[in-house]
Amino acid sequence: MISKQKGCLDLYGSTAKKWQYVNKIIDNLMEKYNYNYIRTPIFESSELFHRGIGESTDVVTKETYDFVDRGERKITLRPEGTAGIVRSYIENKMYGDANQPVKLFYNGTMYRYERPQSGRDREFTQFGVEVLGSDDPLIDAEVISIPVMLLQILGLKGVKVKINSLGDKESRDNYRKALIEYFKPHIKELCEDCNERLLKNPLRILDCKVDKDNDLLKNAPKTIDYLNEESKKRFESVKEYLNELEIDYEVDTKLVRGLDYYNHTVFEIEASVEGFGSNNVLAGGGRYNGLVDTLDGPETACIGFACGIGRIIQALDLEEVKLPIDESLEIFVMYVSDTEKKYAASLVNYLRANGFKTDTEYTGRGLKAQFKQADRLNAKYLILLNDEDLKNDEIKIKNNKTKEEELVSVDYLLYYLDEHLSDEDIDFEEYSDDCECDCENHKGHCHCHHEEEE
Ligand code: HAM
Repeated sequence: MISKQKGCLDLYGSTAKKWQYVNKIIDNLMEKYNYNYIRTPIFESSELFHRGIGESTDVVTKETYDFVDRGERKITLRPEGTAGIVRSYIENKMYGDANQPVKLFYNGTMYRYERPQSGRDREFTQFGVEVLGSDDPLIDAEVISIPVMLLQILGLKGVKVKINSLGDKESRDNYRKALIEYFKPHIKELCEDCNERLLKNPLRILDCKVDKDNDLLKNAPKTIDYLNEESKKRFESVKEYLNELEIDYEVDTKLVRGLDYYNHTVFEIEASVEGFGSNNVLAGGGRYNGLVDTLDGPETACIGFACGIGRIIQALDLEEVKLPIDESLEIFVMYVSDTEKKYAASLVNYLRANGFKTDTEYTGRGLKAQFKQADRLNAKYLILLNDEDLKNDEIKIKNNKTKEEELVSVDYLLYYLDEHLSDEDIDFEEYSDDCECDCENHKGHCHCHHEEEE
């Protein structure tokens, strides 16, 4: 037997249903926020990630999937979405679009050669957004509000928003120098990786997993103290907008993020639910005002974030959130004879074309076993085809809950099913509009199915 590769996932069954549900919520949310979908290639030239993410980052030095293709090109499977989107923004000259800023969202697989563990895979899926062409602190707050609202809609309670500012280039450079000066005399007390980070990327020492309890890290200089006046003012403004949006956050002066392109606002959303383990960051992002010009585009102010869908599902499972996933079937069509089967084939097709979730029998089961199959599929209505009824242009329909049966004229069938199924229908759109519920989680923007509570 050939097994799947380490750190990869076969998505199927009930987990796949949850995943599809989360994706639907994301699409719906992005429509409300007026962000446009973008899909970029899964592989790009290796140079894009080296220049974009940073030569000294863990992602680039240790974690990329690199290969040389048959045309001798150096290729890398994308470890994240931002660099590819910035490449596309430049290549497609989106900076020239009339609609500015360019607000994009993506949802796709990323690849990092990591040590697989809970919440850390080699192939994983990120939903993320990138806003290119605005330096307004309001956009920073809006971008942070997206994963906050997503997690709220999904019903997750134990989440913590952490924010920080790295300031502009001048502030960041000053901070970098201060860190090197501070750590240099004691660097031997820290792990091997931190020794390497000292000159290449001293900010990364601050979120080292190995040395995280070392007092040296705890007492290190704080980003906030190295922000110049303009960067300070900007950070204050972002916080004010977050207050306006009623987003609870805490300022974490140690938050620096693992990719090199950040400046000004950085943020992470953690799952604080017990049992999650150390890979508990559900979403992370920040501003990257210098990346577009690093990749040969015009100077452009940008901000974005990405979240791991797998980690969100894990958090939902740990909090035992029951998602309103409709696992029922509307109609199961049953038959015995060959002529009934032929009729079933066209009837199922007709019902599906008219919008009914319909299924039938495919494995030669007898009638009794078909009833069982209909129950397994949670069928609401059964259509029991019978040659005698069909001769009279009639069809027997059984309510699978009340067990009531009715003989319905073929001409009247659609009308009958519409009538009987409509009040049981879960209409996603209906629940996605602002609802009047004062359910504590949703603050009047409830996207949930409230049937049970009502
Ligand atoms: P990141 O922090 O590397 O940022 O990843 C964002 C999120 O992706 C993480 O918070 C986590 O939920 C998920 N994630 C990352 N690595 C893995 C993994 N190995 N297994 C499972 N989930 C993972 C970025 O990727 C930036 N591009 C975000 C961004 C967008 N910044 C600005 N724009």
